[in-house]
Amino acid sequence: MFAAGTDTIYITIEWILTELITHPSVMSKAQEEVRRVLGSSQSVSEEALNKMAYLKAVIREGLRMHPPIPTLVPREAMKVTELEGYVIPKGTRVFINVWTISRDPMYWEKQEEFWPERFLNSNTVDFKGQNFEFTPFRSGRRRCPGINFSTLTIECVLAKLLLAFDWEVPNENKNEVHDISEAFGINTQKKTIFF
Ligand code: HEM
Repeated sequence: MFAAGTDTIYITIEWILTELITHPSVMSKAQEEVRRVLGSSQSVSEEALNKMAYLKAVIREGLRMHPPIPTLVPREAMKVTELEGYVIPKGTRVFINVWTISRDPMYWEKQEEFWPERFLNSNTVDFKGQNFEFTPFRSGRRRCPGINFSTLTIECVLAKLLLAFDWEVPNENKNEVHDISEAFGINTQKKTIFF
C-alpha cells in the first residue's frame, strides 16, 4: 500500500505543477477558481473541492498525459486467449500501454496538448475503469483500490498549493526551452529536474 500509494501521488502532483507552470493561462484559471471558492478560508473542505470543476479537470488531464504507471503492472495469460483477432498464447506476459492509449488521436482531440477543458465538455470519460481509453488506475478486479483516496489527496494538496503560492519559472530561466520529457521506467519520473 505504501509503495503503490506514495510515488504515484507525488509523481502526479509534480507533473501537474510542471504543466501548470508551463501553461500560465491554465494556471491562472485554476488559481482563480481555487481562490474564488475558498475566499478567505485557509482550509480546504471536501464540500469546497466539489465546487472546483476546473481543478478536477486539470487533475484528469495530468493523469491522461502522465499516467504514473505508464504500462501498468504486467500480467500473464493463464490460457490461450483471442482478443479482437489477436491470439495471445498461454504464458505471454501482457503489458497495457495506457500512456499511448491516453494519447491516441483516435480517441483524443489535441492529444499532445495539456488542455483540461476537454474534461469539462465531456461528462462521459472518467478514470473509474469504464472508459478503456483512460485507465490510469487500471480497470477490472485488480484496479487501484486507492482511487478515491488519491484523487481527494491530490485535489486537496493542489488546492492548497494554488491558494498559497504563485508559481512561475524563475526569471533567470524564463527564456530557456525546458525539457519536460519523461524518463523510461515503471514510474513516469521526470527526465530532467529544472525547477
Ligand atoms: C495517482 C495515484 C494513483 C495511481 C495513478 C494508481 C494507479 C494504480 C494502478 C494502475 C494499479 C494497478 C496496477 C496493476 O496491477 O496494473 C494500482 C494498484 C494498487 N494501488 Fe494504486 N494508484 C494510485 C494511488 C494509490 C494509493 C493512494 C493507494 C493506497 C493508499 C494505492 C494502493 C494500491 C494498491 C494496494 C494496489 C494493488 C491492488 C491489487 O494488486 O489488487 N494506490 N494503482
